[in-house]
Amino acid sequence: MTFPPGFLWGAATSAYQIEGSPLADGAGESNWHRFTHIPGKIADGSNGDVACDHYRRFVDDVRLIRELQLGAYRFSVSWSRVLPDGIGKPNARGLDFYDRLVDSLLAHGIQPMATLYHWDLPQALEERGGWADARAVGWFAEYAELMYRKMDDRVRLWATINEPWVIVDQGYVEGQHAPGRRDWAEAAAVSKNLLKAHAAAVAAYRAIGKHAIGLVVNLVPIHAASNADADQQAANRLDAYFNRQFLDPALRGEIPNELVEMFGAAWPDWTKDELREVARPIDFVGVNYYLRLVVRDDPTAGPARARAVVEPNCPRTAMGWEIYPQGLTDILVWIKSRYGDLPVYITENGAAYDDVPRPNGDVVDIPRVEYLRDHLRAARRALDAGVDLRGYFAWSLFDNFEWQQGYSKRFGIVYVDFESQRRVAKSSAKFYRDVIRTAGGALES
Ligand code: FCB
Repeated sequence: MTFPPGFLWGAATSAYQIEGSPLADGAGESNWHRFTHIPGKIADGSNGDVACDHYRRFVDDVRLIRELQLGAYRFSVSWSRVLPDGIGKPNARGLDFYDRLVDSLLAHGIQPMATLYHWDLPQALEERGGWADARAVGWFAEYAELMYRKMDDRVRLWATINEPWVIVDQGYVEGQHAPGRRDWAEAAAVSKNLLKAHAAAVAAYRAIGKHAIGLVVNLVPIHAASNADADQQAANRLDAYFNRQFLDPALRGEIPNELVEMFGAAWPDWTKDELREVARPIDFVGVNYYLRLVVRDDPTAGPARARAVVEPNCPRTAMGWEIYPQGLTDILVWIKSRYGDLPVYITENGAAYDDVPRPNGDVVDIPRVEYLRDHLRAARRALDAGVDLRGYFAWSLFDNFEWQQGYSKRFGIVYVDFESQRRVAKSSAKFYRDVIRTAGGALES
């Protein structure tokens, strides 16, 4: 069960989910700040105004990361903190926050991985059309360049965009995320603009950056509920929508045919040059893995016309997501077979449970320990199968603002009491620390 030397053991977070103080020190408003303040959008009526108060407590938080013996930490930059209007004049105090965060990580021997975009778009850009506007490609490249110039001397791992599928589907098809749109034509335009923005940020990196840059996608094994042709085809459509929508263009310069069929006239044309441009080589793929889906054909269900079916007895997390560790091995092996041998990081993996502290304050989260153990074993099997897996980041370091679920879903390996802001390492954090100390040895027992 041991992992290779140099394997990165980390945990991940994102800016809007943990920082709080969204408008402090000259920051501009983000679309998530705007969205969460619209009544009815977030399950528990909450928002990211305070979150984990990490913006003010980051020094202690970095110390905690060190205590957990994590070798790496994946965070995201809030675009509107560093560029309040999205473009134009940078905000020195916002930049300074990330500067100090990175310095303090490095001072503790923790390698930073910076994600440029984890869903919080400057509201000023949202008002100009946001991701549905083709100008977003240039806006993103300008922002990316600012961050490289500021931090590439210290940050050696960069991710452009986190989970573009979620931005398209939740932001523009289902409308559950900011900006809360439900318009397939816009969704299709956003899909293209996100890919082009990713590629423009990679191009900017090649001109200035010295280390590694990649794309982070969420991948989900899709299985058909039956052998019937209709269900098999539904599974195939959803696989194209979920798993190939971004990787096929970015790694092969191809658009899956299924998407053109699904979106019909709404799907934008791609020229050969555009496809060549988005397939600019990247240094790694980041994979976020949580669940698998078993689906049936359903003409009324989303662009892929596929509906997930719930098997009554399958193990689930508090999100209702099926626990399916083998899917992590399968999806990593699939990347290798479809896209070739490129370095991969598991940039997110984890589970929500309804953790309740014991009277003595301990948080004993045995189901999460088991979830981590089984998924880390699955990651190890991918290494055995020859996948060039370079690291694993648990989602998440902290319980935090889980988007439309607010604070009602806890994903942390560290418990956060949102009243007092006290942090408590859960049993899963202690287990993970043992895994790290033994380079995977602790997974054997
Ligand atoms: C992923 C997101 C992350 C978090 C987890 C549970 O889709 O990247 O911010 O919400 O899911």
